[in-house]
Amino acid sequence: MFAANGSMLARSMSEIASKIDSYVVAASADGRVLACAALEEFSPSLAEVSSVAVARSQHGKGLGTQVVLGVERLARARDIEELFAMSLTDNFFLSMGYDTTTVSRYPEKLARYEKMKADGIDVVTKRCFRKKLAATWSVPELVVAELKRRIAS
Ligand SMILES: CC(C)(COP(=O)(O)OP(=O)(O)OC[C@H]1O[C@@H](n2cnc3c(N)ncnc32)[C@H](O)[C@@H]1OP(=O)(O)O)[C@@H](O)C(=O)NCCC(=O)NCCS
Repeated sequence: MFAANGSMLARSMSEIASKIDSYVVAASADGRVLACAALEEFSPSLAEVSSVAVARSQHGKGLGTQVVLGVERLARARDIEELFAMSLTDNFFLSMGYDTTTVSRYPEKLARYEKMKADGIDVVTKRCFRKKLAATWSVPELVVAELKRRIAS
């Protein structure tokens, strides 16, 4: 759905299945996936927060923030020191403590874009954000009751 307007890259079922342990999802009580995000590792210390999407009916309820926090938790568990993200939406990553940067900082990502262009895939220009993960960290509080209230409203 969001791949059609260029906000996200399309992913095949086999691609998702092969990286399923790097996905974080938020689901409703009846098992519907409401939001997702993924950790795309580029090196032992660098990864991208990718595939961030929230069902349209659930926008603005904090689910996007929660799945990105889940990806950050996964990154820390894997000893990753730096995250970057590509987005058309400025405030979303800024609201989570990311700084604006330039994708030229990440030649690995640029190389991937070049390969996609060579394969005939349309690549939409996005802004780049980065976050250094601090050595000490406390688990963000998941405000479950508040999230349930927002999803129900
Ligand atoms: C971008 C997206 C993931 C945000 O998810 P969400 O659950 O609606 O976001 P949250 O409720 O956690 O919002 C957190 C903050 O991000 C910012 N934000 C969220 N959506 C935004 C938007 N469309 N434009 C500008 N700022 C936005 C706001 O500052 C918000 O804080 P606030 O609610 O206190 O104002 C969601 O809109 C989406 O799925 N968009 C389409 C897919 C897409 O563009 N994916 C790639 C983007 S990373």
